[in-house]
Amino acid sequence: MRMVVLVSGRGSNLQAILDAIEDGRLAAEVAAVISDVPDAYALKRAERAGVPTYCIEKRDYSSRADFETALADCAEGARPDLIVLAGFMRVLGEAFLDRFPGKVINIHPSLLPSFRGLEAQRQALEAGVRYAGCTVHFVDLGVDSGLIIDQRVVRVLPGDDVETLSARILEQEHDLLVDAIRRFGAGLV
Ligand code: GRF
Repeated sequence: MRMVVLVSGRGSNLQAILDAIEDGRLAAEVAAVISDVPDAYALKRAERAGVPTYCIEKRDYSSRADFETALADCAEGARPDLIVLAGFMRVLGEAFLDRFPGKVINIHPSLLPSFRGLEAQRQALEAGVRYAGCTVHFVDLGVDSGLIIDQRVVRVLPGDDVETLSARILEQEHDLLVDAIRRFGAGLV
């Protein structure tokens, strides 16, 4: 299974994928990593693993549709079976998604449909929920609103702040994402 991973930042989820492939826990290949942020640390992780990297910045295009078309052209060049948004901080529209129907998934740090959008862990703490978590879902035109593939639950502990809760959720994200990709590849999703 050939994957393209879209990133904007740190890239710990990308690293979890690369490690799982390296260890033989995931029978797949990251064919390309594409970032919309030139200095995203995720690009360094990809380079270290010998994965081709690309950077496509929104500011170089006059419209969102043109930017997404460039992104889609780049992704298509890697002939992906699956496109993984792993900390990619932009909402994608039709110009991108119509090119890869049923092939784009995202990881989000909340138990969707609660706490969509930015700062999901902070939203969870502010709502006072006792259970938080993470979700892998198909990407549709909404914000974190596509069909849910799988989730992991994380207990909110007394004294948790955004940092401690995010760290515990992130650990589960890494496991969940690799597992969801494996199941997608096996035709079980
Ligand atoms: C993760 O919490 C992910 O769920 C969210 O953005 C964060 C990305 O982290 N969409 P990383 O770049 O994979 O370390």
